[in-house]
Parts: sequence; C-alpha cells; structure tokens
Amino acid sequence: MKPQRETWGTKIGLILAAAGNAVGLGNLLRFPSKAALYGGGAFMLPYFISLILLGLPVMLIEWVIGRYAGRYGHGSMTGIIGLFFKQASWARALGSLGVAIPILIVMYYIYIESWTLGFAFLSLFGMMPEPVSSPDPKVAMDPYLKFFKEYTSPSLLAGFFFWITLFINWIILQRGIARGIEITAKIGMPLLIIMGIFLGVISLSTNNWAGLEGLKFIYNLNFSGLKDPMIWIEASGQIFFTLSLGMGAIATYASYVKPREDVVKAGLWTAGVNEFVEVIIGASIAIPAAFAMFGALAVPELAKEGTFRIGFMTMPAILMNLPFGQILSFVWFMLLFIAALTSSLALIQPMVALFEDEMKWSHTKSVTVSMIIVIIGAHLCAFLPHFLDEFDFWAGAVFLLIYALLEIIIFLWVFGINNFYQELIRDSVIKIPKFFVYIMAIISPLFIVLIGYFWFSEKLLEVLAEEDPYKWLARAFIMAFIFFLGIIAIISRKRVLEGPVL
Ligand code: PHE
Repeated sequence: MKPQRETWGTKIGLILAAAGNAVGLGNLLRFPSKAALYGGGAFMLPYFISLILLGLPVMLIEWVIGRYAGRYGHGSMTGIIGLFFKQASWARALGSLGVAIPILIVMYYIYIESWTLGFAFLSLFGMMPEPVSSPDPKVAMDPYLKFFKEYTSPSLLAGFFFWITLFINWIILQRGIARGIEITAKIGMPLLIIMGIFLGVISLSTNNWAGLEGLKFIYNLNFSGLKDPMIWIEASGQIFFTLSLGMGAIATYASYVKPREDVVKAGLWTAGVNEFVEVIIGASIAIPAAFAMFGALAVPELAKEGTFRIGFMTMPAILMNLPFGQILSFVWFMLLFIAALTSSLALIQPMVALFEDEMKWSHTKSVTVSMIIVIIGAHLCAFLPHFLDEFDFWAGAVFLLIYALLEIIIFLWVFGINNFYQELIRDSVIKIPKFFVYIMAIISPLFIVLIGYFWFSEKLLEVLAEEDPYKWLARAFIMAFIFFLGIIAIISRKRVLEGPVL
C-alpha cells in the first residue's frame, strides 16, 4: 500500500503556491540592490544567461523529480536522493544537506520577514520617524537609519513582531498544504502583484517620471559584465536564490502534486511569474524611486551599503516624503511581508516533509518540532553578531551551488538521461526537445563548475582568513546542524524500508 500524502487542491492554487515560494525578498530587495551594485545593464546579461542555462534547467529537474519522488511517498531531499540509491544511509545523509540549506536560510529570512511586518504596522499607525526632505540621501535617510538600528538592536517592539511572524508561519504550516500554504498563496499572490504594480507606477512617475531613468539604468544592457567573474557569481547566485533552486524547496512542493500533473507547465509558470515580479516589478520600485529622489550618482553608493539599506531606510525616506506617505510605506512593507511569508513557508516545509515522510511522525508533531528548530535558529540570528551574514553566505550562496550540481549529477546522470526525459515529457503539453536535456546534463554542470572555480579563487580564501569568533561559532553551528540532520536521515532509514521502497 502506498502512503497517502496530501496534494494541492487546485491547479491555480498549485501555481500560485509555487510562485509564492519563488517570489520573495530576493525579488524586491536582493535583486535591485545587486543590479544597482553591479552597474545595472552590466549585471543583466549574465543574469539572463544564468536564467536560461541554470535557472530553467534546474527548475524543470526539481519539478520532475519532485513529482516522481512524491509517488513513492518522499518529499524531502533526504528521501528523494535516497530513492536513487536504494535508501542507502550515505545517500540519505547527503540528501539531508538539501533540508539543512532551506532551514538555515529561513533562520535569518524569517527574522527579516518580521521586520517587514513590524514596519508595515508602524507605518500604518504613524509610528515611523517624521520624514526630512532633502536631496542628500544621507540627510533624508538619517532618521530611518537610526530607527532601524534601534528597532533591530533587538528591541521589545521587534520581539513582538518577531513572535507574531513565527506564530503566523506556524499556524499556516499546521493547516497543511492545501488548507494552509495554498490558501495563503491564493490570497497573497494576487494582492502582491497588484500592490507591486501600484508601487512601480508610483516610483517610476515620481518627480515627473524621473524614475524612468532608474529603469533605463537597469536595462542599459551592455557586455562589460561578461568579463567580470564577480558579476557571474552574483548573477547566477541571484538566479538560484530567487527561483528557490538548489536546495529541494521546489522539489518538496512538486512532491505534493497529483500523479499526472503537468510539471513542465508548472515549472515554466513558476519561473515566469517569478521573473515578472523580479525584472519588471522589482526593477520598477526601489531603484527608480531612489533615482527620482536622489539622482543617478547616489544609487550605486546606496546599493553598496547592502540590501537592507535600500529596503528599510531608503524606501521609507522616499515614500514618507510623498503625499499619503504613511500609506505608501505601509503598502511597501506589506508587499515585502506577503512576499516573504509565502517564501518562508516554502523554506520550512522540506523539514516538515522530512519528519512526516521519513520519521513517519504525525503532521502536528512534524510541524511543532520544525518550528521549534526554526525558532531557536532564528533567535541565534537575532541575538548573535554575524550569524545572519554567515548563514546567508554559506546556505544562501555556497551550498546552493554545490547542491544544484549534485542534483544534476544524480537526477540526470544516475537516474539516466532517458529515464529523466521520459518523466519530463510524460503528461506534458509542451514537449521539450531532447537536446535541451543534453544542455541540462552537460552545459549546466560545466557552467556551475566554472562559477564555483571563480568563486573559490575569488572569495573563499578571503572569507576564511577573517578571524572573528562569532563567525566561527556560526560555522560550527551550521556544521552541527547538518550533522544532526544527517543522523536523522540515517536513523529514519529503517522506518522507510519497512514501508514501500522503489
Ligand atoms: N526565492 C525566495 C526569494 O526570492 C527565497 C527562497 C529560497 C524561498 C529558497 C524558498 C526557498 O526570496
């Protein structure tokens, strides 16, 4: 007998949930600051090339494999990778790295998510600092800079919204796939798109459409970026992060589809909606607004200060100076909150699936234990210096690259190109030509290896040379956590073997 797993309720719900998974802070904060930092148009060509050569292939792989593994009752990478090696302990442990990555990401992601909720309410209730009108970004942003520092120090107020955010995630996950995650996406995603378009129009039209210059800056495509390894690293990293790839988060969602679902269509929709919200909406808000208010020269300077600067300080400084500023600021932070919420659910679900499918725990127990782990990790990120950055660096960049390579090797080469192709075209209206699978199997991994090489030579040594005890503490935590999940993968093996195996 096959174990009964939950499935998505409707087709549109599935697409919206998957789009909610991908669309997140990456689209609205990370993308604009990376694009601005790396020269706008110079960043975009490596970005689009990475989308085609890495993003789409890995997206399709995760959908196809997720549906396949779901049929055998597995939704976490532990069971999915195990499936291809007769559930051998080593394979399951390797798979567990794929569960560790999203959980390590969510430990800091959910903390940032709680800031967006807090700032939304503070904007609505007039509790944000009074705006100072000045063409100098430093002067205009000063009140918000101070406010942000106070708020995240961490304050009581921040703690309040932090717990509310954790609680909201908990409740939704507890309600399950169709009644929790899917409903949230069905309400949230349309709202998100409407609010995003609205803010895009506001930003572009600010100061007599001066914001359009910002959009031109991003789309002033040029070849100069192609020669710069750092741009390739960042552009491909952004593609993985924004599309939620290289950690099984998409595969976990795909494992809950009905057995004959058209996953090619679902994958293309996920990528399509995500890219719309990234390169159209994401490109039209923060950077154009900053262009319109502070001029072209200020923008790369602002971007250098990091992702949070633009989202939490520059944007309120701009919006609060416009008519109905409080409302606009509320809309901006609510937009970020919805985007972040539908992603944090997707980041936690792989661990819920691990406990349910592999440990055979009840849904409630799986969600409770997952949330306790997330809460502990999130508090470490909130209270200890450098934890947030270290988690972002390792889980949000390095591991993704390594894991995506692993996915390609196992799901294409070990599974067999033909087997994979049969799974890919089964039940799909769009028949992807076979040569695309060869691109996926050969070009994509070479591309990852090349970027990995740049990466190790450019960044790794520099990073490891830093001596800060908290950084090493964070790394020790990461290692211990991966080890812990590895143990779970191994001890749960027996329970899985008692059930149906491939
Ligand atoms: N794609 C999300 C974003 O752009 C982040 C994310 C990564 C979500 C991995 C789920 C899984 O913010």
